[in-house]
Amino acid sequence: MTSTALKTLLQAMTLEEKAAQLAQIPMSACLGGVSEPTGPMTALNLTPESIALCGSLIADGPLDAPSYAAVVRALTNAHPHHIPPIVMKDVIHGHRTMFPIPLAIGATFDERFASRMARCGAREAAAMGAHVTFSPMVDVVRDPRWGRVMESPGESPTLCAAMGAAMVKGTRNGDPSHPDSLAACIKHYAGYGLSQAGQEYSPIDVSRTELFNTYFPPFEACVKAGADLVMPAFVGVDRVPCVCNGWMLKDILRGRMGFEGVTISDWDDPGQLRNHGVAADLKEAARLCMEGGLDMDMMSFAYLPHLAQLVREGEISEQLIDEACLRVLELKNKLGLFETPVRNDSAAYQQAVLSDPETKKAAFEAAAASCVLLKNENVLPLRPGAKAALVGDHADSRAILGGWTLDADRSSTRTLFESFASDPRITLTTPGDADVILFACGEREQDTGEGQSKTRPQLTGAQMDELSRLSALGKPVVLLLFCGRPLILTKAEPLCSAILNCWFPGSEGADAIRALVMGDQSPSGHLSMTFPRAIGQIPLHHDRLSGARPHLDGENYFNRYIDESSAPLYPFGYGLSYTSFALDSKVVKQTLCAGSPAVIRTQVTNTGSCSGAAVLQVYAHLRKSPLIRPMRQLIAFRRVELAPQETAEIEFELTQEMLMLYDADGCGVAPEGICDLAVGMDADAPFAQHILCIRG
Ligand code: GLC
Repeated sequence: MTSTALKTLLQAMTLEEKAAQLAQIPMSACLGGVSEPTGPMTALNLTPESIALCGSLIADGPLDAPSYAAVVRALTNAHPHHIPPIVMKDVIHGHRTMFPIPLAIGATFDERFASRMARCGAREAAAMGAHVTFSPMVDVVRDPRWGRVMESPGESPTLCAAMGAAMVKGTRNGDPSHPDSLAACIKHYAGYGLSQAGQEYSPIDVSRTELFNTYFPPFEACVKAGADLVMPAFVGVDRVPCVCNGWMLKDILRGRMGFEGVTISDWDDPGQLRNHGVAADLKEAARLCMEGGLDMDMMSFAYLPHLAQLVREGEISEQLIDEACLRVLELKNKLGLFETPVRNDSAAYQQAVLSDPETKKAAFEAAAASCVLLKNENVLPLRPGAKAALVGDHADSRAILGGWTLDADRSSTRTLFESFASDPRITLTTPGDADVILFACGEREQDTGEGQSKTRPQLTGAQMDELSRLSALGKPVVLLLFCGRPLILTKAEPLCSAILNCWFPGSEGADAIRALVMGDQSPSGHLSMTFPRAIGQIPLHHDRLSGARPHLDGENYFNRYIDESSAPLYPFGYGLSYTSFALDSKVVKQTLCAGSPAVIRTQVTNTGSCSGAAVLQVYAHLRKSPLIRPMRQLIAFRRVELAPQETAEIEFELTQEMLMLYDADGCGVAPEGICDLAVGMDADAPFAQHILCIRG
């Protein structure tokens, strides 16, 4: 439809029809068609007429293509202007075929895995009938007590920006109107990862300077990559909830970042203004959110019953409704929904997509590339013929998919036991009879994700007791760790001869873990979040700002704890391999000027006897800056596969923008002077190789 036709359509719509386009209701309310609302929605006196007018449906449960198609057709036909509803769904790390959790995908340090995961998830969900995914989540996360760290690519703004943009591109595949694509809704804008003490739904306290330097950049990158919608976070900035925060949703998102798509609230977030105490009722909440720049109301039923009334009472201008409604119509038009409201109604086609072996292969490769080898005292890989005991909570469990797995096919998820039992190279036996013990344990997948904050992110007492018993047998214990967040492993580490962090590896995770344990390929994941030594260190991340007294040897009064080291157990970016790598360390001095990037070249050699992937990371430290800056910050990374004895030369192009700092007004403070660079394989890499002289 042309933009003129869209505007003509808008002009033909009544106020109620325009307001209803800004409401999202659950698919479950419409399963009986528009004739009788089903489920709890009857309590919200959703009439068949109001259901027919609603602009969007949230897919609140596993359904198949024919069911989705029937609902969309019924609502489109019932609408006075035959405007189709837009169907939205959480496709966070796959849809039916589950990929590793996004925190694990971040650990690949390779955008290709992020893009492929998003591509596969979008293809499967689109075949079912979805039009939009509420993904990627690009919250920068630094607090393992918060359960939602699993949904993020990690603690680094650079890593979150790169992986998030790759996921947006994978989701849209260049054309969100294609039957295999979805539109991408990025979230949660912004600063949700700062929830106080890691406690879910707690307030945040963040400066605008910190937003500009840390929390906005991943959203800017995703907007540039083509994000179609933005979801404000449940939290507030400057004590104004993001969902009705004009500075966030209009000045910054649209004015500074140039976003032109649709803003949609998180679940019932307008209604939650009453909990924040900034709205007395849903009607006031509707006014505040519309004035603040929120286009669509997910499930709070503030907009549906109140927007038209607010206009008639002169409380808000109809122009605000028109602008929001036009953005929703433009989104539907961009997706081709006016011509093709239903992309697929064939269960056979959906099944063909869901059983595509290429998707399973991609999930396997992502799982194998995301596991992080944290310790290995020459135990892994296991030699053929080894006798191994496979024990622990996750040894024979299909619950290795992680959170946000509503539509996952668990029945086809192999357990570790099934996978290892199928491998003739290994004999499974009892701990007493084994040469090596594989101890598969960690978090329960239901204890991760939204609403799953923990004060003690660590192995349970029972798991530690079992580990102690196994260790006392005097045989090497390999900890196969399952987690949706960094866990405190300080007490477990000495009892293990090897530790493989498997995160939640998804549908093909068991076979991927076996492939790594048996040496079919080498682990190559690197930590996307720091693993602290103690809970008391949280939040602990690689890019902390410099303090007044970083260290004063021999003094008591400097940046330290008296009861614990300040160092992490495992730093950001850390990960071992079965092979070894050497980086050339010649010191290179380069000048970086505005508009002309510097190029850092590093040679990396696989000095071992098996293939492996190195993850090169570039960290920067500005020696001097008008604003306090991080002591080190990841600014670039590259994953490179190398055969034994193979050498590759890797080039990194560094620009001033990568080193830019921003003040409280968002104005850039261009770096000048000397910048030390460290090129290495984790955040402990020394500043020894490269120096940038930056000219204004
Ligand atoms: C949830 C989450 C959000 C999700 C939405 C829809 O509360 O905060 O990430 O996309 O509701 O399920």
